[in-house]
Formats: sequence, structure tokens, C-alpha cells
Amino acid sequence: MTAGEATVEATTTEQRRAALEAIAAEVRTCTRCRLAEGRTKAVPGEGHPDTEVLFVGEGPGQTEDAQGRPFVGRAGELLVKLLASIGWRRQEVFITNIVKCRPPGNRDPEPDEIAACAPYLQRQLEVLDPAVVVTLGRFSMAHFRPGERITQIHGTHAPAPAATGARDALAYALFHPAAALRSTDVERQSYDDMAGLPRVLGAARARRAGAPPESGNPPAEAPDAPIIPPDPGDDAPTLF
Ligand code: URA
Ligand code: SF4
Repeated sequence: MTAGEATVEATTTEQRRAALEAIAAEVRTCTRCRLAEGRTKAVPGEGHPDTEVLFVGEGPGQTEDAQGRPFVGRAGELLVKLLASIGWRRQEVFITNIVKCRPPGNRDPEPDEIAACAPYLQRQLEVLDPAVVVTLGRFSMAHFRPGERITQIHGTHAPAPAATGARDALAYALFHPAAALRSTDVERQSYDDMAGLPRVLGAARARRAGAPPESGNPPAEAPDAPIIPPDPGDDAPTLF
């Protein structure tokens, strides 16, 4: 399968797992942009194939590049704490990035690199069909909430454009955890924004179930049900 090819709809856990692993295998050997030259390991993403919530960061940093896993450095530690603050664990969600290979020296990804890598994220979205896409930082926000400013829209949601591959998802904007590591104000705000995520998931579920559109942010009710899957089995993350 090429990077641009449509992904066959996956309907069972095992089909989704296999489809995600197929995408990951392509990413690991991908040379579609110049970021392939400087990487140690590509970082396809990881998480639960049945999750309703997809987190999308910017791109791998040094630790992620060394390990081939997303958000395993200092920003990842903070992301895990932010998730814990709402009772969620990283293995219950799916975590990936806009570009799957580390930009040299952690520079910003270039537009042509983002465009080259976008089909992988699109296919991951098609397989996972998340209810909520949580954008971490500016580059991810720009993909799912184009034309907005992170300082103005963090902690708010809007429908994700269908062109991203999201069938029917709300995109919820958070600051990047690395920004929260640099500023206690941003850190505090990040915890506040994360606290709103269960309610956004509730709104997204209602929307997908055909409820009339809600009038604004934040949405009405937090869901009673825990995030799917309620019982992820063991603590080992599903790696892709
Ligand atoms: N920052 C990101 O944007 N993504 C990672 O995977 C790690 C740090
Ligand atoms: Fe391929 Fe994306 Fe890595 Fe570029 S960043 S080489 S498009 S996987």
C-alpha cells in the first residue's frame, strides 16, 4: 500500500490493530521527505486500537527518536500527568504526531514535510475513527483547526475537517506539553484545559449519536461512562 492509498475500513479490534501496524510498518521505512535522513527511528504512534481519543503532537524529540515511541521524554512525562489528572492512562488513548520523524535539532517541521507525512495521519484517523482529536501545540492545531491561534482557542473544540481523515470528530486544542514545561502559567492552563476533555468526549459522543448540535463551549454533560476501553487488560501499551 502506498502512503496515499485509502485504508480499508477496519471494524474489529484485531482489524484495527492490524491496519495500524501496517501503517506503522510503512512509516518505519518511509523516505518520503528529508526528515528520513536525520532520524534514528521513525515514531508512528501507539495506543489502544479501540480508543475514542487521539492525541496529536508536533514531531518526535530526541528521546522519541531514540526509542521509536511518541511522548516518552520530559514532555511525555507531563502528558502522562495531565492524563492522570482526569483519571486516564496513556495506553487507553492513541498518541501520534504531525510528522513521524524528528526534525534535526527539534526545529519546526517544514510545510512540505508536514504534507508528505499527512497521509499516514489521515490513515490512522480513518482506522481509529476517534470521537475527539486532542491537538497538542500549534502545528497540530493548524492541521485540525486551521486559521486559529492557540492562545485564543486552547480549551475549546470544533468539528475536525473531514479532509483530515476524521469522519466525525471534535478537535480539542491544548497547549503543547513542552510549552507547559517552560511556563507555570501554561502548565496551570494545561491542567484546566485537560479537565475539560471528558466533557468534550461527552459532547462528541452525543454528536455522533445524532443529538442536535450544542450551542457553545464548554458542552453540557461529562460522560458517566469511562473512556473506552473500560478494561485495557494489562498495563502494557499496544505498540505500533
Ligand atoms: N513532542 C512532540 O510533539 N511529540 C513527541 O512525540 C514528543 C515531544
Ligand atoms: Fe516519511 Fe513522515 Fe518520516 Fe517524512 S516525516 S520520512 S513523510 S514518515
